[in-house]
Amino acid sequence: MQPIDRRTFVKAVAGTAALAAREAVTATTASPGAVFLSTWIQGKAANARAAETLKSGGSLLDAVEKGINTAEDDPNITTVGYGGLPNAEGEVELDAAIMDGARHRAGAVASLRQIKNPISVARLVLEKTRHTTLAGEGAFRFALQMGFRPQQLLTPESLKKWLDWKADPKRQTFWLNPADNHDTIGMVGTDGQGHVVAGCSTSGLAWKIPGRVGDSPLVGCGVYADDNVGAASATGDGDLMTNYCTSISIVHAMARGASPQEACVELLRHIVKTDPANRTAQVGVIALNTRGEIGAACIAKNFQLKYALWREGEGRFLESITLF
Ligand code: GLY
Repeated sequence: MQPIDRRTFVKAVAGTAALAAREAVTATTASPGAVFLSTWIQGKAANARAAETLKSGGSLLDAVEKGINTAEDDPNITTVGYGGLPNAEGEVELDAAIMDGARHRAGAVASLRQIKNPISVARLVLEKTRHTTLAGEGAFRFALQMGFRPQQLLTPESLKKWLDWKADPKRQTFWLNPADNHDTIGMVGTDGQGHVVAGCSTSGLAWKIPGRVGDSPLVGCGVYADDNVGAASATGDGDLMTNYCTSISIVHAMARGASPQEACVELLRHIVKTDPANRTAQVGVIALNTRGEIGAACIAKNFQLKYALWREGEGRFLESITLF
């Protein structure tokens, strides 16, 4: 990606009135204290749990892990953990990753079955092994070794949705109507002292081909965190976003001097520039830097990113800027 200088960037952004207006919401000034930023409505409970965990003496990694657990445990969220929609064969396969900006190390699991908290398994890959990513049967066996109990992850509701999909002779797509499929919980957080962590958990694309791995558990794609710069996470079409190494691209743009908001927009513009068909792509990104400044953006109105922000002890639910 060609870096753009600040002047060119500001000029490009200023051309879109709506963009500029919304930017005022997201590009707030730096603040002391913990900041958490999470995707979608599930981010509200996640941020609150993360803040509570940090306040009661947990580490920032604990906070992000416990925050994301709230979405994984909720059977009504059909894109994460328990109740997540299954693959084409009716099996729930979960992906998750967590990255520690201090150690520059991540833990991740992909295609994990029967374990409802993949972010906690990913955390243990980080803490207990020299590996970064475990997948499939190996990830499952590792989880059992770590004391996790296997369980059925289909709920009556998710089973019915899968049976309906199977029964539909016109089923052509591996992607649900976006209105029904606000996917992934991505979270980035800082403790207010320059430390950042990123985490992400998802059941991935509904009705996916078994074994399909999206962006979420891939370090640099679904998550990236570096205490020298900041952290980023992504939500949306993981097959597309993996090709752009979304999260590391954003963090590297911040390292070159962009604000989190500028870095998010720069990456999304690049995605559309390389292929104009991506003007309607389902891509949403969140980022923060080590000073607690934030950014959030999506490409298209048909996938309007909403995100939860926790700052100065207060939670807000906001819409990101949209490129088109
Ligand atoms: N972004 C989640 C996925 O595509 O699996």
